[in-house]
Amino acid sequence: MSIRKPIIAANWKMNKTPQEGYQFARQLTAKALNLPGVQFILFPSATGLDHVHEVLKDTAIGLGGQNLHSAEEGAYTGETSAGMLKACGCQWVIIGHSERRHIFHESDDELRAKVATALNAGLKVVLCIGELLEEREAGSTREVLERQLRADLDGMDALPVDRIVIAYEPVWAIGTGVVATPEQAGEAHAQVRAILEGLFPTLNASELRVLYGGSVKSSNAASLIGIPGIDGFLIGGASLDIDEYVKIAELSQLEA
Ligand code: PGA
Repeated sequence: MSIRKPIIAANWKMNKTPQEGYQFARQLTAKALNLPGVQFILFPSATGLDHVHEVLKDTAIGLGGQNLHSAEEGAYTGETSAGMLKACGCQWVIIGHSERRHIFHESDDELRAKVATALNAGLKVVLCIGELLEEREAGSTREVLERQLRADLDGMDALPVDRIVIAYEPVWAIGTGVVATPEQAGEAHAQVRAILEGLFPTLNASELRVLYGGSVKSSNAASLIGIPGIDGFLIGGASLDIDEYVKIAELSQLEA
């Protein structure tokens, strides 16, 4: 179990209407009072942010956007700016989710610009990285993680560990029901810390939080959170159900 307070983040993807998000947030605020040992963060779709913020605004539960554009404003139809996220009450944003990388073909150059924009705007970042199945099978997982981290964080002198969280999400485990084994996840998390220590000599990697994502459920959360270096979860499918989401948080609580 990590000494860092676990983050239990819900990535709803393109699910839940604003009203459904509002109801979920209401239920969560009641249940979260009994779970002070974890940091909850909800990532609704852009259209749901305002409604969910209405519920969360006076609570310790975080709110974030699932994506943003790197420009401040302008002619970018369908996009959302950092300023818009902040105006909707977000403190966080996810950058580089595998669906953004692989379905929407976001490049590392774009992701680097997004990270810079988010941090400059005062948003905290969950930067997602992870290898494809063929990359794991070819034995190049570490290489892929290093390539992504190096490219997405290029140009930064130091890594602000209080404002960037890394989510290791093996692409083959996302939405597939196939979860990484605790050994696989533990090894990848150690690699992430080692890579970042190499890239940022001043980094105190023990302060960095690295989340695991990919088919996390209440049935596998306990074995994963027990691995040193796993500081919480970015949860897709299982975060849509309030009972399942809260159960994962209960299993992840820091022992008093
Ligand atoms: P999943 O998604 O939990 O549905 O596998 C995780 C994610 O994409 O962040």
